[in-house]
Order: sequence, then structure tokens, then C-alpha cells
Amino acid sequence: MSPVTNDHQTGLLAQAQRIADEFNLGPEDVQRVTSHFVRQMRDGLVNHRAWQLPSFVRSVPTGAEKGTFLAVDLGGSNCRICLVHLRGDSTFTVTQSSHRVPAGVMVCQSYKPLFDFMAGKIADFLAENSAAYTKDYDSIHEQRATPYRLGFTFSFTCDQTSLASGTLIRWDKGWDIPEAVGRDPCVMLQEAIDKLGLPVLVTVLANDSVGTLLTRSYTAGSSTLAAVIFGTGTNAAYVEKLSNIKRPGTAKGGAGQIMVINTEWGCLDDNMEVLPRTVYDDYLDMESTDPGSQMFEKRISGMYLGELLRLVLVQLVQGGAFEMIIDKESPLFQRQGIDSSFLSELATAGSKDYSESLVLVESQLSAKGVTINDVRAIQLLSAAIVRRAARLAGASLAAIIIQSGRLEPLSAQLKCPDARIAEREASETTDTPISSIQRFRQKLSLLWHRFIKMFARLNRSKSSSGGILPQYSRHDESNPEKSIIDIGADGSLFELYPTFEDDMRGALQEVQEIGPAGERRVRIGLAKDGSGVGAALMAQAAFEMEKRGEQ
Ligand code: GLC
Repeated sequence: MSPVTNDHQTGLLAQAQRIADEFNLGPEDVQRVTSHFVRQMRDGLVNHRAWQLPSFVRSVPTGAEKGTFLAVDLGGSNCRICLVHLRGDSTFTVTQSSHRVPAGVMVCQSYKPLFDFMAGKIADFLAENSAAYTKDYDSIHEQRATPYRLGFTFSFTCDQTSLASGTLIRWDKGWDIPEAVGRDPCVMLQEAIDKLGLPVLVTVLANDSVGTLLTRSYTAGSSTLAAVIFGTGTNAAYVEKLSNIKRPGTAKGGAGQIMVINTEWGCLDDNMEVLPRTVYDDYLDMESTDPGSQMFEKRISGMYLGELLRLVLVQLVQGGAFEMIIDKESPLFQRQGIDSSFLSELATAGSKDYSESLVLVESQLSAKGVTINDVRAIQLLSAAIVRRAARLAGASLAAIIIQSGRLEPLSAQLKCPDARIAEREASETTDTPISSIQRFRQKLSLLWHRFIKMFARLNRSKSSSGGILPQYSRHDESNPEKSIIDIGADGSLFELYPTFEDDMRGALQEVQEIGPAGERRVRIGLAKDGSGVGAALMAQAAFEMEKRGEQ
């Protein structure tokens, strides 16, 4: 270990900085991503696409919902079996068991091993836990013969056809079970449950983003606009006006009616029109189970950030840039060998005292003789990768906020980018001289972009001079402003990475239609493991509809 900076190591830091700069996402890039996403979201509301998927959820919880329901939450890596008791006062209790999904069932020709695995875990869970809940469950569901109603959270892209059915469009996050594509996850799960003769009825299908939105709304007791997931994968769901949803096959709705939309934002801009790309992104995509798909997700989510860092480090190691000696068997040389939790731990350990970070690098990378500059270089690269992810996340959240119309009083003065382009084109193609209002708007737009550029320069110099990240204003609870835009969030990246939310908010501020004033209205609250509870909330809503004879 050597605290002395020699030439070799100065070279390392310079190389690391050069690579880190490739991950820089400027304010103009953020605006471009937001504008493009708004256009794609609007397109997905009127055309049949693999994004903007209707969830058939027509209302959000108020907090008064009651009942006990089973839920199965199949995420990117784990499967949880939950018995959720909704108390009707915005609180709930959950009894759950969590299981790592074996790699052999994630990638498999047949769908049966996966669904048999889940049914087996439901059987074990019921054997262990049902006694405690039977009394409560029976009083709600009236008779012992009634099966348990189960909400199924299935965190993959499904074209939903009703609250209780849908077809799997494709796998992602490294999963690949070809036989399941085009089939209904509820039917596959019910089939496996019936094979074991369990008293369980699968009554609803939920995407995890939709489930998280419902949970946040239930617990916050407020009308939540959206939920965002930054876990193994990334996605968001939001509340859309039913009258805006014109996809073929979706019911028409009157004024005031809503539907929750599963954006599947992970696949936005798969054509790579606006997303940033480095050689590392390209290599990661090429090596993935689904090249050319989920390009946004591949720059944001936990499944990929560790891998991006690994690819960069391997290149530096091969070029002899580090002082440390890395074991041949190191996870650094294995695909997916670095978990994104390493990036969070490095950021949390910080730079005040390097001893913690040194130990972390030594143990995670099986390295010997790690120097402070080795650690500095890794931290610099790791921070740049996550910062780009957080800023892209901010850009896409901005798109949802703009599309939702929640900013309308403010954005009525600052028209959306599409409108501005149309307006400019109109003024260029007509003979009518542009009005003073148009001129004023153009000036405003110019000033805004100058301000953003200045802000970015300031930002860059701050972070390169001492690693001080800008502190963006969080929502002020004491602010009497009523027009809060409530967002639920889940996923370890959001929860554990110390500057993820701040960087996301920084990008929100830079989007012209949002600005610092709009960003201040955004309240983001953690809805941890909200997807399972959300499925129970959906099962509760379906049960109420059934009782009213609506289903
Ligand atoms: C992937 C899935 C999506 C899910 C997200 C988060 O993007 O396609 O359905 O919501 O991961 O788990």
C-alpha cells in the first residue's frame, strides 16, 4: 500500500478521468432524452407498442382498503411469498418468505420448472403460516371453503388484457424461458398450483411498478402520481387520463376517469436515437441475453451497473494501469462478477478515510497491494457510471411528470418541446412576421439553455475539484405548497446509493418544463418491497368488484 503518488499512478487517475468523462451526461443530453421519451410515451398511448401498457387498474387506493390476501412477487432475482393484511388505516402487516430463484429455472426451455418452483414455495409457506391468519382470512372471505385469493406480481413485460390476464411479451434482466413467451403468467402459475392441489386462486396480475404505485398511494394516503423501480431492472408506472389512452382494445373513458399505465420505460429508445453510448455499453449489450433490447435499462439498473464498472476495470487492468495485483480467479474476470451493491458500498465508504474502501476493493476484487490511487480511480469511475444512471432516471421521470399534465399551470407558459418545434417550424414556413410573444418565448428558451450550460460548467468544476456533489433541494415538508407531486420509489440503487436521488433531482431541475420550481414540488418516498403489497391491493380491488357483481 503506498500513499505516495508516483507517475504510474498519476497516469491511472488521468486515464480514469478520461473514461469517467465519457459517462458525462450534460443538461442538453438530459433535455433530449426527456423530449424523446415524452414523444414515445404519447405514441405508445395511441399505438400498440411494447411500452405504455394499460394495467386495467382504474383507481388508486385511499388507505381505507381492508383484507388479507396472498401475493407472489417474482422480481429479477428473488421470489417472495407474502400474506398481506391490509388494516384499512394506511398500514399493513406482511408475513413473507423470500427465495433466490435458481439460475437453472431462469434460463430454461420449459416454463414448468419456474412455476413449479413458485407453487412449491407457496405450499411450504401455507403449511408454515396459514394457521395464524386463518381466522382473520375466514372472517373476511366468509367461508372456509373459499380459496385464498392471490395477487401475482410478475416483473417482466406483459401485454395485459384484463386485471387478471396478460401475455408475456419477452424476458429481460438475463432471464430466458422461450416456452413462456406468448403465454399468460396467471394461467401458468394456476396450473402449477392446481398440480399440488392448493386452495389458492390467482386473481390478478400486476407489474411490480404498478404494485409499488398502489402501495405508495395506500401508505401515503395521498394521490400518488407515479412509482419508479431501480432494482435489478428499472421501470415506472403512472396515473394517466383514460381519455388519453387510445390504443386499440382499450376501453374509452369519460372525463375524470384514470388508468394506471405500466410504462416499461426500460425499452424506451431501443433504436438509440438519444441515449448516450460508450464502448462499454456496446460490449455489455452484445454479451447480454437480449442484444438490442432494454437499452435504457442497460444504462440504469442494478443488473448492469456493476457489469459496466467491471468492463471498464478489466480494460484498465489489461493495460497495466493499476498498482494492485489481481488474482486470476477474481470475480473481476467473470461475467456479472461485480454486483452493483459494490458501487453503493464504495460510495458510502467515501473518501475521507480510505481504509474502509481499501478493504472493500481487496475483498471484492480478490486484489493484493491495493493503493489509495487504485481506490480513487475505481471510485471515480463507479461514481461516473452511477451518476449517469441517476441523471437518465431524472430525465425519464421528467417525461412522466410532463405527460401527466400535473405541471400544467406552470407549463402553460413554457410549452412542451413538441409544441415549440411545431411553433418554430410554423414561423419559418409562413410569411407572417413572428409576434413579439414568440420572440419573447425564443429569448426565454435561449436564456434557459445558457443558464443550464453555466450550471453544468459549475457542476463539473465542483465535482472534479474535490468530489463535492451538488446538493439539490429536497422537498421541504414545512412548505405549505399544496401541489405536491407524490412519487413512490423502490429498489436497492435508489435506497442505498447515497447521491442517487440528488443526481436524479439535478436532472429534473435541468429539464426546461420542470425547472427548479417544478422539482421542488416533487416528493419521492420509499415504498420498500411495495410490489407484493400492491398485488394484494389489486386482489382486494378485484374481490370488491366481484362482490358487487362487476366481474
Ligand atoms: C424489467 C421488466 C419490467 C419490470 C422492471 C423492474 O424492465 O421488463 O416489467 O417492471 O424490470 O423490475
